[in-house]
Amino acid sequence: MTENPYLPRRAKIESIKQETTGERIIKTFAVVIEDQAYRERFQHKPGQCAMLGINGVGESMISIASSPTNKEFLNFSVMKLGKVTSAIHELEAGDLITIRGPYGNNFPLDEWYQKNIITIGGGIGQAPLRSIIQYVLDKKGEFGGLDIIYGARTTADLCYREDHFQTEQSVFWQRRNVRVHLSIDVPEAGWDRFVGVVPDNLLRLKPSPENAIAITCGPPVMIKFVIKNLLALGFKDEQIYTTLENRMKCGIGKCGRCNVGSFYVCKDGPVFSYARLKNLPEKG
Ligand SMILES: Cc1cc2nc3c(=O)[nH]c(=O)nc-3n(C[C@H](O)[C@H](O)[C@H](O)COP(=O)(O)OP(=O)(O)OC[C@H]3O[C@@H](n4cnc5c(N)ncnc54)[C@H](O)[C@@H]3O)c2cc1C
Ligand code: FES
Repeated sequence: MTENPYLPRRAKIESIKQETTGERIIKTFAVVIEDQAYRERFQHKPGQCAMLGINGVGESMISIASSPTNKEFLNFSVMKLGKVTSAIHELEAGDLITIRGPYGNNFPLDEWYQKNIITIGGGIGQAPLRSIIQYVLDKKGEFGGLDIIYGARTTADLCYREDHFQTEQSVFWQRRNVRVHLSIDVPEAGWDRFVGVVPDNLLRLKPSPENAIAITCGPPVMIKFVIKNLLALGFKDEQIYTTLENRMKCGIGKCGRCNVGSFYVCKDGPVFSYARLKNLPEKG
């Protein structure tokens, strides 16, 4: 008998980390799928998502924020927004949630052998990028340089702050061509890094398009200007990748909730090269 693709499985929350204390609260959950056979089948790639749910409340599509090289648990960074995400925020370590997936396509990391990788993130958009960042750090010999450009409104809104600071200050990673460029939108006492929006930090840093891939995730307005600036820096359409976050229900290309033209973002995305994205209609 074929497996019901809608069937969620139980997963235990092993630990919870509060990432942000700013206007939008984000928590990162480390979860382990209870059923061993399903856990072994759940082989994700960076860029993919899963439906997280709470019985009696509903489900939300959330990016998998950990790398597949992490075999211990899956990370999900969830921003408290509405019904489901607020209920997830109420949970504690040891509680159960439901999970189904992994869903969607992925960043084609296998095609990026020895390429310089530039991630450009804003706010919660750093979640899918974190999966790539951890993957590239774990498999550094397969890639060229790694530039992590990331910004949020204030320091209280920066996700994965300690990890980013550690990587930024690590001589080990500096010698391996890994650089972190953090920014906040408005000045704050004690902040000696860039102040301004992410697209402006990108223009200031001027990463070279030579042998490079740029991946950007964040608010739509940030993505729009990041892409504009990447093109101005000489990046070609096929060197630029992003993700779409249309609202979703089934997650498997059946309900039609997430379509853009003839594409279903849940199945044909969420990862799109700009070469593909620019030919999509504005609305479904
Ligand atoms: C591919 C994909 C990856 C995602 N990854 C993450 C992630 O890693 N972390 C995370 O916190 N969120 C992520 N999201 C967004 C997340 O799915 C929604 O925020 C969540 O479903 C909201 O559910 P809710 O019940 O809390 O809010 P609801 O009660 O359904 O809605 C509250 C408000 O949020 C708006 N809203 C809900 N969903 C979306 C959406 N997808 N886009 C824009 N506005 C929305 C509603 O219109 C409403 O105004 C992702 C979405 C997609 C499609
Ligand atoms: S969410 Fe149902 S078709 Fe994409």
